[in-house]
Amino acid sequence: MCGIVGYIGKNPALPILFSGLERLEYRGYDSFGFCVLDDDKVDYFCKEKGKISDQCHIKDSHSIGNVGIAHTRWATTGMVTKENAHPHSNQDKDIFVVHNGIIENYKELKEKLISEGYAFASETDTEVLAHLIDKYFKGNLEDAVVEAIKEVRGTYGLAAVSTKDPNKIVAARMSSPLLIGVNGDEFIIASDPSAIITRTRQIIHLDDNEIAVLTDEDFTISKIEKETRCLNVTNKEIEMIEWDIEQAEKGGYEHFMLKEIMEEPNVIEDAIRGRINIEQANAKLGGLDSIQERLRGINNIVLVGCGTAYYACKVAEYMFEEYAGISARSDIGSEYRYRKTIMSKDTAGLFVSQSGETADTLAALREMKEKGILTIGVTNVVGSNQARETDAGVYTRSGPEIAVASTKAFIGQLTTLALMTVYLGRQRDMSHVMGERIINEISNLPELAEEILALKDDIKVIAEKYSHYRDFWFIGRKYNSAIALEGALKLKEVSYIHAEGTAGGELKHGPLALIDENCPTVAICPSDSVYEKMLSNIEEVKARKGKIIAIATKGNEEIRKIADDVIYIPKTLEMLTPILSVIPLHLFSYYVASALGRDIDKPKNLAKSVTVE
Ligand code: F6R
Repeated sequence: MCGIVGYIGKNPALPILFSGLERLEYRGYDSFGFCVLDDDKVDYFCKEKGKISDQCHIKDSHSIGNVGIAHTRWATTGMVTKENAHPHSNQDKDIFVVHNGIIENYKELKEKLISEGYAFASETDTEVLAHLIDKYFKGNLEDAVVEAIKEVRGTYGLAAVSTKDPNKIVAARMSSPLLIGVNGDEFIIASDPSAIITRTRQIIHLDDNEIAVLTDEDFTISKIEKETRCLNVTNKEIEMIEWDIEQAEKGGYEHFMLKEIMEEPNVIEDAIRGRINIEQANAKLGGLDSIQERLRGINNIVLVGCGTAYYACKVAEYMFEEYAGISARSDIGSEYRYRKTIMSKDTAGLFVSQSGETADTLAALREMKEKGILTIGVTNVVGSNQARETDAGVYTRSGPEIAVASTKAFIGQLTTLALMTVYLGRQRDMSHVMGERIINEISNLPELAEEILALKDDIKVIAEKYSHYRDFWFIGRKYNSAIALEGALKLKEVSYIHAEGTAGGELKHGPLALIDENCPTVAICPSDSVYEKMLSNIEEVKARKGKIIAIATKGNEEIRKIADDVIYIPKTLEMLTPILSVIPLHLFSYYVASALGRDIDKPKNLAKSVTVE
């Protein structure tokens, strides 16, 4: 996601902030900004769109201030503009804030602040923080920050400076990483160790609800408990990071792919943050507000995506038809763009893409627009072509995905599409009880996803056991038929092993001819409405001496008698099982590829974003 760096010490802050941001470049960003103070004056301030490397002159500016904060932004709330870049400030431009995370109640807070006379200069949620700090400022920055964050719901890692209370940085954390680098009498605050480790390896992690005050001599960390700021936390230990730069960028994991798989529970949390309305048993999707009424008249949805994003469309097809009461079908971007389709005016096109720049998906979108069809986007990248060209849409908020193979973005897409199912369903026949049930189950998913990730070492053992096979089959039915396709795609993509996925029922229509002891089958068979059917398919494979790796629901002991290996996933609603069943498949592919020593983050012949036909 976004990156934060702050410096206070005896040296000029700007070059240190600049190189800190440079080391956060790998995370991806679309704009950046700096604010350096020299005592009670702003010594340097700039915000730009684009890359820091294009603005190298910044570090040569004659800035001497020794306190500063800087930020790389990866847009979530508000487009990619200079105004939306951080730091954000109050109207008097004497309080400056950089922030990572999402302020869920920013719209209510913004309205209230506007009614109190505050004027806003950006579309971001972060700017609310700057004005709230201003509102509560009575001479002491940390007190104002404490008061401001009491009003905020959501997640934040933030750093603030002020010319009215100079020579300090105040930082606070709630569910968004923040750490302090300690280097003698200079301190660096950062969201990521890679921004720090060329200057110091001694770090202290801030925990949730903690607030740190850094000066050029010392720092203190306090806990905000029950709305009161207690005295210093005394038990914070300095840790030594042993990682090299490359490991630090990957959060200590060997590859971005593994780091991103491990982020999947957070991705679900971010996708649903502020989007659940329990009282109305509904999803709040602000991005669809402008077409809310038009959507009521929609009876068909055509979903379009490519590769993994297409498989998200396939899962949504089942969700929409079963729960939203809308007829749905999916198409691949490269197919849709060249075929003749019959589409009535009560049809909407729904485009799913991580990058929002996939050429075939965009071509299909333009083709549909040409025909006057309502277009909706599900995209990860704010301001991407897809986001700009669709009539409305919902961002998946999965954060930058660096590994070529899409993992966490797929989870973000499925979660967003599940929320959309509730939204569309509640506009139609879905009962309050059913809406509530789905919403509650979606809210439980982050915890359930964590449970699966805790099995990663067991999955690694299974992956290594099977890594010498040259062919694999993946089967699943109904909601998980598309997960069979995704499992096979992920395995071939990162391990270069031949793998194919089919709906379980299709086995006997051809693929069985290839099943023998040399071709293991991964069977996705949660305890759902098609479980018995999956058991029959597994029997068919076993009868041909094929090995079975089953992805089954926790508590199913029966499956152990027939499968060679079992990976358990927790129970959830049938329509949500894909969000859980795909996690072990991501790990399985990763560990097979790792056992084979593949270039996992950059598989041969593939690009992250396919912007050409
Ligand atoms: C597979 C993968 C690709 C992408 C596809 C669409 O792991 O990454 O199949 O899913 O190229 O990309 P987006 O989602 O950017 O449109």
